[in-house]
Amino acid sequence: MTQNMSFLRNFFLYKCLFSLTFWNHVSLSVEDELFISVSNNFPEDGSNQNIKTLPLLYTKSKTNVDWVVIQNTTESLSLSEITDDNVKELLALLSNFRQGSRLQNLTLTNVSVDWNALMDIFQTVWHSSIEYFNISNVIQLSDIERYDFDYSGTSMKALTLNKIQITDLYFSQDDLYRIFADMNIADMTIADSEMIHMLCPSSKSPFRYLNFLKNDLTDFLFQKCDNLLQLETLILHKNKFESLRKVSFMTSRMKSLTYLDMSNNLLRHDGADVRCQWAESLSELDLSSNQLADAVFECLPVNVKKLSLQNNQISNVPRGMVELKSLEELNLASNRLADLPGCSGFTSLQFLNIEMNLILTPSADFFQSCPRVRELQAGHNPFKCSCELQAFIGLERQSGGKLFGWPAAYVCEYPEGSRGTELKDFHLSQLACNTTLLLVTALLLTLVLVAAVAFLCIYLDVPWYVRMTWQWTQTKRRAWHGPPGDQGLVLQFHAFISYSERDSLWVKNELIPNLEKGEGCVQLCQHERNFVPGKSIVENIINCIEKSYKSIFVLSPNFVQSEWCHYELYFAHHKLFSENSNSLILILLEPIPPYLIPARYHKLKALMAKRTYLEWPKERSKRPLFWANLRAAISINLAKADENCYEDVG
Ligand SMILES: *[C@@H]1O[C@H](CO)[C@@H](O)[C@H](O)[C@H]1NC(C)=O
Ligand SMILES: *[C@@H]1O[C@H](CO)[C@@H](O)[C@H](O)[C@H]1NC(C)=O
Ligand SMILES: *[C@@H]1O[C@H](CO)[C@@H](O)[C@H](O)[C@H]1NC(C)=O
Ligand SMILES: *[C@@H]1O[C@H](CO)[C@@H](O)[C@H](O)[C@H]1NC(C)=O
Repeated sequence: MTQNMSFLRNFFLYKCLFSLTFWNHVSLSVEDELFISVSNNFPEDGSNQNIKTLPLLYTKSKTNVDWVVIQNTTESLSLSEITDDNVKELLALLSNFRQGSRLQNLTLTNVSVDWNALMDIFQTVWHSSIEYFNISNVIQLSDIERYDFDYSGTSMKALTLNKIQITDLYFSQDDLYRIFADMNIADMTIADSEMIHMLCPSSKSPFRYLNFLKNDLTDFLFQKCDNLLQLETLILHKNKFESLRKVSFMTSRMKSLTYLDMSNNLLRHDGADVRCQWAESLSELDLSSNQLADAVFECLPVNVKKLSLQNNQISNVPRGMVELKSLEELNLASNRLADLPGCSGFTSLQFLNIEMNLILTPSADFFQSCPRVRELQAGHNPFKCSCELQAFIGLERQSGGKLFGWPAAYVCEYPEGSRGTELKDFHLSQLACNTTLLLVTALLLTLVLVAAVAFLCIYLDVPWYVRMTWQWTQTKRRAWHGPPGDQGLVLQFHAFISYSERDSLWVKNELIPNLEKGEGCVQLCQHERNFVPGKSIVENIINCIEKSYKSIFVLSPNFVQSEWCHYELYFAHHKLFSENSNSLILILLEPIPPYLIPARYHKLKALMAKRTYLEWPKERSKRPLFWANLRAAISINLAKADENCYEDVG
């Protein structure tokens, strides 16, 4: 009755203002719930000249009740600034578009009317030809009460309500929600309206698309609701849902649900005992921007094909826990994952987005474990450019363009020195990264070195050269640092040569010519040539040794057996040749097997053991060094010798 009263009040106001000019066109019928209805002589398509004058009349009479026409075509009408003052004219206008007229789309914005007036608008629209009704910015919606809405015989397909502001503080929520819950249309959107609840339709509902974006809906929505059997798309983006399990229960009775958008809620899942129950038909699920952690994988619809878990708190995709055989597209961007997930549970996966996680070194076996993946989006991770990453970079080359955003999105973050370098430009040598390769290379190098040394030793006799060169340098050094050549004054010969008669050919053809070939002139004392007759052999030897700067013994088995006895005796009596004496030069012409040296030759044995002899090289190429060494050993300036250099001594 209050409803009727307010309409009566409005009507009388209306009547006073317009009765004179408008009476012929407008008739009132009290039986029709006191609606103002435009009389029958208005054509349905609004093309009659008379209807054109309608807004003009308002303008003339009272400007502040006028609405604003945003769009006016035969199919589509868009009006703004609907108030309690002009709502009756609006109702009159709308009731003009009966079913069968051409108006399809109605948009009303900036609507400031009370609840009953709004419901009257809805009711009129419901019985008009309008299919798409869009109403936004409804402010000061007050006096909410029960309204008996007649849903029958409508052309309506879709209703969009945007920014509905209810100013009532106390009212029965059901009066409000029942109207919308029972609407017999396919599409309904109620967005940005601080709506805290919605009722389950009281009978099987034709809703196929419900969008409650940006409201305050909670886990209580549609629990145990069996009447949304046709619902295919449900959008609950930006609401206040908290329990993923309750959401799953909500869907479990929606047998046709294929798409669910739960993004930007407060969803968590604690992985408790009660299992989740999702609609089996659900194939696309958006859970982005929630508070879900790893346990979310225990509560996912089995048949989901496309899943977004972007911007949650997932740090690990547990292996072996989930099996989503139909999953083709998985978005895990902006989580806390430290590595690429394997595909053991997602055998059909084709697209994976794992951007903006905490992946330092992605494992390179990804494409092996995920053979069906066509695109991997892994950029904007804090990549650590090190050896381990080489394999991943190699992966991009092998995979043939499966890495989305390559190369720009793939940039080194660590170490500091490489920060900002694109992975494409990051190279480390194979050797630096492959330990096995490194070891093998080192081993090979060592082997080559050993082989080279062995070759040099065996074929070129390098140790011999080294020894000879060492001796030569030692001799030179001693000559340099040694006492000034005052001995040279008393010495007559550079060297005394002792040899076996059997080796005389070598001495004459090789030794003497080569020693004398050096710069300066070399005086040699030969025990054959320079012997003083009448003196004993030993006396002669001592004489010769004492007049010579060096003593050269040409050692051979012959020499040891025939000549050495004299010297062994001599060494025994004269300490002249001490152990460290460097005036002794032994030339080993032929190898002397140790058993050939008689046991009593202690000195010879000692000398041989010390290997302080020069070996006569068999190879021609080594001989120049041998001679140089020998010449260096005996080079000294002999004052006395120089005088009679070219004389035959003796
Ligand atoms: C829409 O335009 C038609 C003619 O073009 C006119 O008769 C009618 O009054 C207009 N409707 C509104 C609500 O402005
Ligand atoms: C009416 O609105 C629907 C939905 O927005 C749209 O697809 C259709 O094109 C509109 N029709 C006209 C005539 O503007
Ligand atoms: C609706 O009202 C607001 C302020 O009340 C105004 O800024 C806006 O332009 C209006 N919209 C239309 C379509 O008239
Ligand atoms: C409804 O109106 C809003 C803004 O007024 C617009 O963004 C939206 O596209 C409209 N929807 C339809 C179905 O006309």
